[in-house]
Amino acid sequence: MGAPDPYGEDLQLALHLAYALHYRGLPGVDPEREWDPEVLRFRRLLERVFLAALRVDTAGGDDVDAVLAPLLLEPVAGRGPSWHLSRHGTRDQLREYVAHRSVYHLMEGDPQSFVVPRLEGQAKASYVSVQHDEYGAGRGERMHAELFADMMRELDLEPVHGRYVDAAPAVTLAPVNLMSLGGLHRSLRGVAVGQFAMIEVTSSPGSQRLSAAFARLSGGTAGQRFYDEHVEADAVHEQVLRRGLLADLLAREPSLATDVVLGVQAGLLLEERFGEHLLHCWQAGESSLIR
Ligand SMILES: [Fe+2]
Ligand SMILES: [Fe+2]
Repeated sequence: MGAPDPYGEDLQLALHLAYALHYRGLPGVDPEREWDPEVLRFRRLLERVFLAALRVDTAGGDDVDAVLAPLLLEPVAGRGPSWHLSRHGTRDQLREYVAHRSVYHLMEGDPQSFVVPRLEGQAKASYVSVQHDEYGAGRGERMHAELFADMMRELDLEPVHGRYVDAAPAVTLAPVNLMSLGGLHRSLRGVAVGQFAMIEVTSSPGSQRLSAAFARLSGGTAGQRFYDEHVEADAVHEQVLRRGLLADLLAREPSLATDVVLGVQAGLLLEERFGEHLLHCWQAGESSLIR
């Protein structure tokens, strides 16, 4: 058997299914399989291939500030699904976008929660304060995953875990798999924190564009509610993560800087691949979902 494509459908789907055992499980699969040594052994092989490719395909380095700095400057013009949808996307494309994103957003915050026991002091306090917001700050109906489910209903999509996994190509699964990989390995806590910081830093302007897309296309208010929440919350989260989490974590464990940089760069790489796939399909007049 040849080496599997690290970004290919087989590897990413297999990883996604192996990780699913740690979240909501899989229909018809014994929950005990979560700690089945054979599953874990196989998963480990896939993770090594994925991680090795990410290390090769990113620039690397250990300057966390330098790698985040360009992300803080919002370009006046850009490309990517949120730019496209805000201007000339169709309602069908918006539905596709939400179906892809549901793989993560119906469990928003969960992969990152695995990181909590691996942190200490101010870094931990800052991290948890961001997570507190992701989980609705004590109100179930305000959890971001719930706001996302409301938005799916508004678009006549089914807000059910795993519902769109079959339709999701590898480019959709890969960024979510990276979250699980970073969350489930203590040794990769730097990668997890880097990807999380990247998402929070870039989320606010992207959410603004998606809110505009919903205002134009959805005919309801749930989508705007979800993205407007992120415009405001993530502007604050960005500050908390950089000044509270990253500053304290790197003061305690300076050797994690390389992995934080990897998390930022790998997260960006996978987001770019996802975005390029969607734009490529839409420009060709095709669906970006598998079916
Ligand atoms: Fe959120
Ligand atoms: Fe956030």
